[in-house]
Amino acid sequence: MSSSRRQFVKLGLGTSTALMGGGLFDVVSGRLALASEDRSPASIDAFPRKYEIKPLSFKPESLKDLSPKLITSHHENNYGGAVKNLMKVEAEIMKLSADAPAFVLTGLKSSEHAFRNSMILHELYFENLGANFKVKGRTAKIISGAWGSQSRFESEMKTSGAGVGGGTGWIILGWDLRAEQPILSCIGHNNQFPANSIPLLLMDVYEHAYAIEYGANLKGYIDAFFANINWEVVEKRLEKAESVSKLLRRS
Ligand SMILES: [Fe+2]
Repeated sequence: MSSSRRQFVKLGLGTSTALMGGGLFDVVSGRLALASEDRSPASIDAFPRKYEIKPLSFKPESLKDLSPKLITSHHENNYGGAVKNLMKVEAEIMKLSADAPAFVLTGLKSSEHAFRNSMILHELYFENLGANFKVKGRTAKIISGAWGSQSRFESEMKTSGAGVGGGTGWIILGWDLRAEQPILSCIGHNNQFPANSIPLLLMDVYEHAYAIEYGANLKGYIDAFFANINWEVVEKRLEKAESVSKLLRRS
C-alpha cells in the first residue's frame, strides 16, 4: 500500500469508506467489505498499523523508592504487552470476512479499545514520572484553587488510589474541557475513560504497577509515586488543555 493511501486510511478523510490493502473498509461500521479476490495474504499482510513502544523518558535507576526492576517490568511487560496486543487484535479484525458474526467483531473491537487505552494511559503515566520535581506555576494555582491546597489534593488522590486499588485501576487528574476546571477521576479498568477531559496526571494502581516491589502495600507505592511526579510535564499538559478549552469556547 502506498504511503498516501495508508495516510488516507489512517485519517478516514472525506468518506466513511476508505481503500485499504486492495479492499474496502467502512470507517463508520468498522466492517470489512473485501471482495473474495481481495482476500489474498498480501492484502492482509498490509496490516496491522504499526505502533511503537516508546522508551522511558528517564533512567529507571533515577526514581525514588520505585526500583528499576519494577519500572522495567511494568514498561516492558504491561505497556509493551498492550502495544503488541493492540497490533495483534487489529490484525485479527482485518482478517474477518464480511459475514463474520457480529459478536466476534464486537468482542475483538472491545479488546482493541482496551489495549489502545492501556497503551495511551501507560505512555502518559510513564511520561509524568520523574524524581526531584516540585509542583509550581499554573498547575499549583489550578490545584489550590480547586482543592483549597496542594495537600488536600494529594490526600484525595492518594485515598482514591488506595480505594480503587485491589488489582486494577487508574487515578487521573484531568482537565474538563467544557467546565474548564480540573477533575479527579477513579476508573477501574483500561476500557473506561473520563469523557470530555484531557489527562494531566495519571497514577497507575493496577497490581502490576507495584506488586513486584511492594506486595500488598499499595499505600507504600502511592507515596513513592508522589515522590516521583514530573510536575513540569503536568504543567505543559495543562497549558495545552487550557488552549483547547479556549478554542472550543470560541467555536
Ligand atoms: Fe500499568
